[in-house]
Amino acid sequence: MRFIGCKNLLLNDIECLINRHAPKAESFCDIFSGTATVARYFKQKYTVISNDLLYFSYCLQRGTIENDSISSFSVLHNVLGISNPIEYFSNITVVEVETLLRDRRFFQNNFAPFGGRMYITDVNALRFDFARNTIEDWRAGSLLNDDEYFYLVACVVEGLPFVSNIRGTYGAFAKAWDKRAFKVYEPLRLEVTHNGKKNRCYNEDGVELLKRISGDILYIDPPYNARQYLPNYHVLETAARYDFPNLHGMTGLRDDSGQKSDFCSKAKVEFAFEQLLKNAQYKHIIFSYNTDGLMSVERIAEIMKTYGIPENYEMTEIPYRRFKSRSEIELGGLRELLFYIEKRV
Ligand SMILES: C[S@@+](CC[C@H](N)C(=O)[O-])C[C@H]1O[C@@H](n2cnc3c(N)ncnc32)[C@H](O)[C@@H]1O
Repeated sequence: MRFIGCKNLLLNDIECLINRHAPKAESFCDIFSGTATVARYFKQKYTVISNDLLYFSYCLQRGTIENDSISSFSVLHNVLGISNPIEYFSNITVVEVETLLRDRRFFQNNFAPFGGRMYITDVNALRFDFARNTIEDWRAGSLLNDDEYFYLVACVVEGLPFVSNIRGTYGAFAKAWDKRAFKVYEPLRLEVTHNGKKNRCYNEDGVELLKRISGDILYIDPPYNARQYLPNYHVLETAARYDFPNLHGMTGLRDDSGQKSDFCSKAKVEFAFEQLLKNAQYKHIIFSYNTDGLMSVERIAEIMKTYGIPENYEMTEIPYRRFKSRSEIELGGLRELLFYIEKRV
């Protein structure tokens, strides 16, 4: 999924750092998990805990990290004869989706031209509404267990960006239709790695969560700047929650109460970072940031050394040329930074 700050291209660098400092580690915590890309990668090797303030991120994690295999959907199969719900939603016909009652079509009524916005075409919005309502109906009728429910929510949400009429984020829809929007919406079948361990996922403030969990490696990848994540991904949040919220303004934003991050506030970020490190009951701490962030490298170093063993502090700069996105290249001097420190626990 396209997501601001996704660490797809940094996985090898993080792994090298771990191999040097924590070759015997058994557990890995991705406390700001976003797309769950990092958690999924390291699930191949470690027991994983992941977390994010965003509920749609939680669904992606819950469906592919806490789930340790793709469920068999046995009850759904026995009762309705559907053993592959992803295929079922992908092959659904126009006639079938049109049977969905008008007041159950939240996406068509709010995010598509029918509702005065252009995040998605009317046809695709209805296909999504049909799938999303059906998943709720199946759950209410006890045809899905929690593992199956979250796997399906993750797959239907992951399919949306492929047909969304946006330029990068959901901060606004594009004024003219992108050709991507005319592809037929279908859920994305997500892979689930089996590691045979008790992996856990959470949907809360990472600073608070760290008071209750412990382990070997803590990977910290907070927002870098003042751009809050919820306004940029509100459509995906509503897709995952499907809670029929009140929407505001032309962009159709939902309320963000309880989901504002202190890491996006110049006034609050240093205190939040300090609390995070103070609460961390992890020996190996890896921190991702960039040179354009709200905290300076000097302050980060100071804070990390206060809560960790100063002699073990390390910082690596990753050349920006490795990042493909044009906008990042245009930022000229931008560098990705990876910090490491060991903490006595
Ligand atoms: C840079 S992104 C993480 C990207 C992720 N590593 C990936 O590869 O997709 C930062 C994430 O931190 C989350 N976040 C911000 N403040 C948070 C907090 N206090 N607790 C938990 N998550 C938070 C945001 O919702 C966002 O998903």
